[in-house]
Amino acid sequence: MSEFDELSFTDAVIDRFRATPDPRLQEVMVSAVRHLHDFVRDVRPTFDEWMAAVRFLTRVGQISDETRQEFILLSDVFGVSMLVDAINHPRSDHVTDTTVLGPFYSEQPPELPQDTDISNGAVGEPLYVDVEIRGPDGKGLPNALVDVWQSDSEGFYDVQRPELAEPRLRARFRGDQSAHVRFRSIMPTAYPIPHDGPVGELLKLSGRHPWRPAHLHFLVAAPGYETLVTHLFVRGDKYLESDAVFGVKNSLIHSFADACDVKGARCLKYTFKLKPA
Ligand code: BEZ
Ligand code: FE
Repeated sequence: MSEFDELSFTDAVIDRFRATPDPRLQEVMVSAVRHLHDFVRDVRPTFDEWMAAVRFLTRVGQISDETRQEFILLSDVFGVSMLVDAINHPRSDHVTDTTVLGPFYSEQPPELPQDTDISNGAVGEPLYVDVEIRGPDGKGLPNALVDVWQSDSEGFYDVQRPELAEPRLRARFRGDQSAHVRFRSIMPTAYPIPHDGPVGELLKLSGRHPWRPAHLHFLVAAPGYETLVTHLFVRGDKYLESDAVFGVKNSLIHSFADACDVKGARCLKYTFKLKPA
């Protein structure tokens, strides 16, 4: 039997991971043990506190399923999702900033012809969207695939409305020869992230709100370029400074014009610049 004290114990646990065959897994496990042990030495939990943490994580798992991903929400409210984003997508003035994918993306959105109205019966302030897809040098990228999804005027995504028989406020478009995608929609609204579970409780206990500022999501894919995952936020939204998931970047805040080519509609015009792969 070895004898450990609070400090030497960490090296003994790390030693057990030294034989991990995959070098990257070994690196990750060694760092995880080091940081977890430092965290526990810092916080010095009682047994009751430790069990409360175990019960919390258990509930995060129990509430998760195909459509409810509480672990992603947990990562989001800790700012970890955006930290991973910052590490993998360093800022550049030449390409569009990225942000979180979020839990409401669908990999098979309906493919619609340009100029379609994606609101599909949802009531709201009309919006006309005209985006261009370009490389960092400004060269147009025709035929890019553009997925878009957004909240309705009550702050819900279609996947949160079981009564809907078909997708709403989401679509996949193919860019035209001039590298534009144009479609009709309604203005998105601010909405709270799902907060009826353990992550919502954590926010409440921390005196934090669950709201995200109004935005449209875009996922833009073109051969030879990194797939861009981003949002465009509505300038003036009251939650821009306090987004529950830290997803706002200045360059993604945009003025939605009061008038444009389509009578009676607000207008969003934007140029996405993709990074070569
Ligand atoms: C979203 O923008 O759809 C989202 C992102 C993170 C957590 C919840 C929702
Ligand atoms: Fe969203």
